[in-house]
Amino acid sequence: MAYFSRVVGTGSGFPERVMTNAEFEEILDTSDEWIRTRTGIETRRISDRLKGETTLSHSEKAARNAMEAAGITGEDIDCIIIGTVTPDSVMPTTANQLQAKLGAHRAFSFDLQAACSGFVYGLSVADAFIRQGQVKTALVIGAETLSSIMNWRDRGTCVLFGDGAGAVILQRTEDPAHSVIATRIHSDGRHGSILKIEHGYGKVPPYAAEYRHDLAKVQMVGSEIFKLAVRNMCESAQALLDSQNLKPDQVDFFLFHQANLRIIDMCMKTLGVPPEKTWLNVNKYGNTSAATLPVGLDEALRSGAVKPGQLVLMATFGGGVTWGTALIRL
Ligand code: COA
Repeated sequence: MAYFSRVVGTGSGFPERVMTNAEFEEILDTSDEWIRTRTGIETRRISDRLKGETTLSHSEKAARNAMEAAGITGEDIDCIIIGTVTPDSVMPTTANQLQAKLGAHRAFSFDLQAACSGFVYGLSVADAFIRQGQVKTALVIGAETLSSIMNWRDRGTCVLFGDGAGAVILQRTEDPAHSVIATRIHSDGRHGSILKIEHGYGKVPPYAAEYRHDLAKVQMVGSEIFKLAVRNMCESAQALLDSQNLKPDQVDFFLFHQANLRIIDMCMKTLGVPPEKTWLNVNKYGNTSAATLPVGLDEALRSGAVKPGQLVLMATFGGGVTWGTALIRL
């Protein structure tokens, strides 16, 4: 018997506070105009830890919305994977804590770290578990509280990112027509230094004499990331389509990692994607790392921009560097 994974529910979850570009003008040498024109970002959501808003709470909201859409309970879930670089704690994992909250007592659960590519990596892993027969129902989440790892004095990074989560429920099917058709995940550690958090872990722990708070936050060489993101997302998407004997114009809908509107525009131009065939929300949420794609899929589905039965290609890129694509028939 051959098994495949079908997307049966999606959901999103965000903290309440909306932070505008104008608010950055108060604390940094920047402007709404610069941020809008260079990135497309207008607002982002920022968590209030004291109100209990964390990666776990965003994940729980997204998961419950997806479970409601799928018509399942926690008891139905066999596997929970959360792609995140901002877990509530290292141990137990955020996925372990979510398992308890959802009453998903039969499931196994773990966090997966692949920066902004965390959701596509998680989808790929969950799909493999389902194909192999071990899992019938998987909850795959991309969730971040990036505000906790920003250097709020660095205008080159902190204006770009935001908090939130997206979730997808995958269920085993024997119908290959409506399923995750193929995924590709990649990494190239040679470019690790262009997007990194150096201090705060084993090499320079917080108790080390040389530990620096600013180096325990995100540092980025934006222009290098920009070029690699466009090239790698497009090459991976094209290779995946080639492997399925498909041309870009045979795909109904494209979801690109929402990091920067100009990166998305360049990917669309390279692959020949018209504006009506994609979803943009980088203006509202900024870059929410692993959360951007499942949130985009959830919003596009709920708004009717993409419909059950359509062919969707998603592409992502992140620190590591990591990148990947997934082709899904909804
Ligand atoms: N406000 C005003 N000026 C800013 C600024 C801000 N928030 N951030 C940077 N600048 C300045 C820089 O200091 C630089 O000034 P200088 O020329 O005097 O040195 C100038 O703007 C141009 O910087 P540059 O980095 O060349 O701009 P850019 O057009 O490449 O845009 C990014 C910068 C970060 C928006 C862009 O490189 C980018 O989006 N890269 C990808 C980031 C990303 O996607 N990261 C996550 C990957 S998953």
